[in-house]
Amino acid sequence: MRHPILFDTDPGVDDAQAIAIALRHPELELLGLTTTYGNVDVEVATRNALLLAELAGREVPVAQGAAAPLIKPRHPAPAHIHGANGLGDIPLPAVRGRADPRSAAQFIVDTVNGRPGEVTLVAVGPLGNLAAALQLDPTLTERVNRVVIMGGAIREGGNVTPVAEANMFNDPDAAARVLTAGWPLTLVGLDVTHRCVLTPEHMARIEAGQGELGRVLAGSYAFYRDFYRDFLGIEGCCPHDSCALAWLLRPELFTTARGHLTVVTEGDAEGQTIFAPQGRAFIEARWARTPLVEVCLDADGPAVSDWIADSLA
Ligand code: BDR
Ligand code: CA
Repeated sequence: MRHPILFDTDPGVDDAQAIAIALRHPELELLGLTTTYGNVDVEVATRNALLLAELAGREVPVAQGAAAPLIKPRHPAPAHIHGANGLGDIPLPAVRGRADPRSAAQFIVDTVNGRPGEVTLVAVGPLGNLAAALQLDPTLTERVNRVVIMGGAIREGGNVTPVAEANMFNDPDAAARVLTAGWPLTLVGLDVTHRCVLTPEHMARIEAGQGELGRVLAGSYAFYRDFYRDFLGIEGCCPHDSCALAWLLRPELFTTARGHLTVVTEGDAEGQTIFAPQGRAFIEARWARTPLVEVCLDADGPAVSDWIADSLA
């Protein structure tokens, strides 16, 4: 069975790896890429999305979206992690194609409503585009097949603050709307992605298997890997965004739980995701006020990492 997906992204080195899977995997039908600021400015994200699709020889619509958070001022882009061009500052070929004239939010609404009940939204950046789509059409929640989000942390600490993961921290107000909208939703956060390491051996196989696209994936990986070595002491990198696709296609590799999510939007814990397991009574009822969702608590990290490499090799 092929899963029709829309992929919302801020490419980004690990986004690029996930986009390659979305473009190439035979079990996925990629209906479009929607772009947001986050790892880079949104114009750069759009250029990278168009480029990656062209290098894969695919004509896939790319629709540009959010340039800044819904409410709060924007945090600076992490050029020391992804490079100023989002792809490890390697030289990149010119892009031939152009973005779809519609906004990302409108493109999401049109695509989901065009195939009611079928489309899975996979979002791996700050969540402004999904929040804007919900604002355009609040009934979208009834027609999406599922929403899969790379973001948040349940038991794991944060990666940009002691408690917050980057995609949540970059737009906590959008995240709060999207995570509590009441649609079928799975959160794939740092509890999973920090168990996974894409090693230099994995990347050598990917480079060999992906032609021109492999050159860009390997070059950008080299830059990203330096960050992981220098800051986290890991030989390799966490393939965060590919983990969302791994959950979609290989859910048996993941441990999940159902419960209620809250996103903190103010104060020191801004961007933190708080999870209350289904049926667990806490001292106040308010932790169960949000709709039930599914969260990943753990994964077989080596098997997920091998799946990512095998998908692209
Ligand atoms: C997430 O933040 C971004 O920098 C990555 O692309 C990933 O989506 C990990 O916290
Ligand atoms: Ca991302």
